[in-house]
Amino acid sequence: MGEYKKHWWVLFGVLLCTFTLLGLGGAEVYRSAPPIPQQFIDSQGNIIMTEDDILKGQSAWQTTGGMQLGSVLGHGAYQAPDWTADWLHRELVAWLNIRANEIYGKGYDALTSSEQAGLRQALKEEYRTSANDGTQIVVLSDTRIKAIHEVAPYYVKLYGNDPKYIKTRENFAMKNNTLPDLTAREHLANFYFWTAWIASTNRPGTDATFTNNWPHEPLIDNVPTAENFIWSVASVVFLIAGVGFLIWAWAFSKKEEEIKLAVPESDPLTKINLTPSQKALGKYGLLVVALFVLQVFLGGFVAHYTVEGHAFYGIAVADWLPYALVRTWHIQSALFWIATAFLAAGLFLTPIINGGKDPKFQKLGVDILWVALIIVCVGSFIAQFFALKHIMPAHLNFWFGHQGYEFIDLGRFWQILKFVGILLWLVLMARGWANGFKQKGDKNLLSIFVASVACVGLFYGSGLFYGERTNIAIMEYWRWWVVHLWVEGFFEVFATAAFAFIFYNLGLVRYKTATGATIISAALFLLGGVPGTFHHLYFTGTTTPIMAIGASFSALEVVPLVVLGYEAYEHWEKQHQAPWMDKLKWPILYFVAVSFWNMVGAGVFGFMLNPPLALFYIQGLNTTAVHAHAALFGVYGFLALGFVLLIVRYIRPNHLFDDGLMRLSFWALNAGLVLMIVTSLLPIGVYQAHASITEGLWYARSEGFLQQDFLVRLRWIRTIGDVVFIIGAMAVAWQVIKLVFAKTDDDNHHRNAPINR
Ligand code: HEM
Ligand SMILES: [Fe+2]
Repeated sequence: MGEYKKHWWVLFGVLLCTFTLLGLGGAEVYRSAPPIPQQFIDSQGNIIMTEDDILKGQSAWQTTGGMQLGSVLGHGAYQAPDWTADWLHRELVAWLNIRANEIYGKGYDALTSSEQAGLRQALKEEYRTSANDGTQIVVLSDTRIKAIHEVAPYYVKLYGNDPKYIKTRENFAMKNNTLPDLTAREHLANFYFWTAWIASTNRPGTDATFTNNWPHEPLIDNVPTAENFIWSVASVVFLIAGVGFLIWAWAFSKKEEEIKLAVPESDPLTKINLTPSQKALGKYGLLVVALFVLQVFLGGFVAHYTVEGHAFYGIAVADWLPYALVRTWHIQSALFWIATAFLAAGLFLTPIINGGKDPKFQKLGVDILWVALIIVCVGSFIAQFFALKHIMPAHLNFWFGHQGYEFIDLGRFWQILKFVGILLWLVLMARGWANGFKQKGDKNLLSIFVASVACVGLFYGSGLFYGERTNIAIMEYWRWWVVHLWVEGFFEVFATAAFAFIFYNLGLVRYKTATGATIISAALFLLGGVPGTFHHLYFTGTTTPIMAIGASFSALEVVPLVVLGYEAYEHWEKQHQAPWMDKLKWPILYFVAVSFWNMVGAGVFGFMLNPPLALFYIQGLNTTAVHAHAALFGVYGFLALGFVLLIVRYIRPNHLFDDGLMRLSFWALNAGLVLMIVTSLLPIGVYQAHASITEGLWYARSEGFLQQDFLVRLRWIRTIGDVVFIIGAMAVAWQVIKLVFAKTDDDNHHRNAPINR
């Protein structure tokens, strides 16, 4: 630890406190998970539905692709409705009409406003108190049962083949016969009913529903709670305070101008002989760009489904390649290529850590891992096809087909295989690290790098802590352990540590500066990032403390992000530090983009959604797509591509980047992303937000709203940004292909090659 003792203690302290909070919060998530009643019964004691029916519905929902087709409790895809909000609204309207007819002999709309207000009051009282007499056996009123029986057939028909709903299915980008089995469709309706029940009945002893009053539904006063207001304001205050303190600490700790760093005459990394395992990484680059190109084409395809729900420019493709499947592949391939690039980066650095040589059988390990990656990727994709086509038997779906949970869509079997692959990766690297640690010298930078890599790998395992029938609130807790702790925790630390490690090895940063700054940045990222996980759980069936912790700490996440302009500048400057850096110009520019999008995509657009008050209204609108694209591609996409460019540059030392191609790729990717956001996703999101705030979430995601000409046109306009982006993707892919297939000549003697002198 040596002179970095203080830094490490800060980091350990942060880890201890934040994981304690995350753990305590987890205990609260388990304790307060919305109950699934054993039975819903009528006033005579007849059973309307059972716990088993609801859980069977959850499984049936998974076989449709779950979150990849519409959303539940706000999480999922954006074109079809949020089924929770949609069911709730339909059931409430049905109830009002039934009562209006019983009492006044006419429909609700025909009543006077005071008659309507009276009915709404009765509606609210009934729905809000539904759990008051116990949550195991719940008695439903006759009116409510009638309402359920009016609403359920709509879903049963919608998910089937009823010709009446063809247009609606097209508007929702659902294929006909999305769920062919009738009983499964009935169970699906039971599941949707249950999610609406927890969203409309108060948690016993409180004034808020199990979902903290989400979704916005004026008919039963589902409006933000007082706590929601308080913690939203608090989160803004924390953000401002955090930024203030950061600048304060930075200014006061700034040392005198450091002595100028003596930059090496030539690139130090080219002095290390390339090992066989490093040379074997070209195929990782190919896999990355192949999956990237596949992903962006799939993305264009998914986007097209939002304007033509069953077809691609007139070709009827939905039966075979429905929206839910294509969207699954779009997201899964993104995760696969980004992960593959990270694996490659770790594997490239291993022999360098190991003193310039391969651990035994390293090349074989690298080759096996590559094949394993392809098997998991292709295997899980094919399995998802059979699952959504319902060729795979439903009881095998969760394990081998489609879990239905966004980002961890692949069946459990494939998920385990992927985890095994990740463990293999860690083992391959650990052998080099072990040796690295044995050598003399300061090991602090290596330690933080190794720790971040190990956490990236191991945390994928948290996705195994729930099963097919786990209560969805508890499933969400673990799902976000993977997704959130990755992107807003260990990936950030990994990126910072990898930059420090690479730039130190290039002789471009002082060891001391790099090491201290990396450990402290890690502490800063994790301080907000770890408890910040709860910002995904405000409305998934949790209590106020979860919202409070989530809102406060995730605001702190934004603090290090908004000052990343400084990091961008430092990376930019690296280009000019030495003449040989010119050859690393493009990877460096990709790293500048990482910082830019971290600031804008993650920091600014992330915070746009983040206060509970904002998310209450805009969860699951196109505003989320704005942030998701700007942050996930903007940060980790550019990072992954930067890594690949760096690797191919070193394994093909005698070749240069094609400046024209690289310029095209860099600017088209950035411009495409900006266009996609500014001309389409953001305006749609803001327009939807207005609808959600004035009418309710159900409306902002409804067919009637989303099919307005103006919004269809905005979705069409997205094509422009998509095409520009696809051009950028193809350009960078072509560059990587050209370099990987270039003749390598005399790799091991390249230190004397003219371009490296
Ligand atoms: C590079 C870092 C980040 C990446 C890659 C990232 C990525 C994503 C993605 C892909 C989603 C969509 C999830 C879904 O569709 O359910 C999402 C949602 C969200 N992110 Fe981030 N994010 C990052 C940083 C942040 C930050 C710093 C904040 C704010 C402090 C934030 C706040 C949110 C919130 C509140 C949601 C939920 C939106 C919803 O459920 O509708 N994110 N993020
Ligand atoms: Fe998050």
